[in-house]
Amino acid sequence: MPCTVIAGSFWGDEGKGKIISYLALKDKLDYCVRTGSVNAAHTVWFQGNRYALHMVPAAFVYEKCRLLIGAGANVNVAKFFEEIEATKVKNRIGIDQQASIIEEKHSTQDKTNTHLKGLGTTGWGVGPAVEERVRRTAKLAKDIPELKPYLTDVATEVNSAMDAGKKVLLEGTQGVMLSLFHGTYPYVTSRDTSASAICSEAGVGPTKINNVLVVFKSFITRVGTGPLPSELSKEEAVKRGWFETAAGTGRERRSAPFNFELAKKAVMLNSATEAALTKLDVLYPECKGARTYDALSNEVKRFVGEIEKHTGISVVLIGTGPEALDIIDRRK
Ligand code: IMP
Ligand code: MG
Repeated sequence: MPCTVIAGSFWGDEGKGKIISYLALKDKLDYCVRTGSVNAAHTVWFQGNRYALHMVPAAFVYEKCRLLIGAGANVNVAKFFEEIEATKVKNRIGIDQQASIIEEKHSTQDKTNTHLKGLGTTGWGVGPAVEERVRRTAKLAKDIPELKPYLTDVATEVNSAMDAGKKVLLEGTQGVMLSLFHGTYPYVTSRDTSASAICSEAGVGPTKINNVLVVFKSFITRVGTGPLPSELSKEEAVKRGWFETAAGTGRERRSAPFNFELAKKAVMLNSATEAALTKLDVLYPECKGARTYDALSNEVKRFVGEIEKHTGISVVLIGTGPEALDIIDRRK
């Protein structure tokens, strides 16, 4: 059962895009299924170019990987066409015929509703689109003539692929602290973001998964409203080099130091089997570009060891720079 789920640990923006692009190239993934919606941007740096992907799976960097958008996802049609053009993946991307469509009206509702604005939503309209899906009035991908050439049955495709021994990756979006069920409600997104929900959106059952890789960032960030334990002032974040702006909306990200208790909870909620740690070079600039664990100082190794001790799982991939291949790979 060569199926890996990639799940976010905190409030999204942990660097899942980078980890997925690395795995695509290194493991030669056969299939990658994106879940969630256009509100999430996955940043991929490849061959000097930067992509902030809202629709196309981050594994596009490996040219033989079949790219899919699951039935539980929401599709913004304009963004889909814009990105398949930019990534040149027209001939190897498919959308589940039952994926929901986000329309302009959903975005307008998201941006003008006082309650949603108060939550600091991204304004892409995902909450209102999900409401329509629940009411069973949503348009589906199969209702849109321009999407005809891309329609498929994602669950059947990936389950057959797994049966044939192909390598499948399910791409989660956001982080588990933004989960509608397990996150910091009401300051959450409009779906469950845990590993189980990622499987469900793709149409894969839990017994088919042999690896749940949770992605930690070396410090924590959050955009929008809601609690963030040990939050730093913007001034302090800038001083530490942790200040970021959102890849999707350009909003300023709030930040806080790595939180071992939250990491432990994220591992539990996802039943994670192993972890990736991104942006170690931001926390410890001396790590920049390192490709071997031995190249790290004892202090840095102690930090990685603390994470493993608290969470009970191994940190198998460590990001040391923005490019897809800037990774220390400790997998056997
Ligand atoms: P919505 O998902 O646009 O409804 O926004 C709800 C909350 O989730 C807000 O706090 C957003 O900032 C946050 N959120 C949604 N998508 C992402 C993401 O991809 N990264 C980080 N935060 C996100
Ligand atoms: Mg993001």
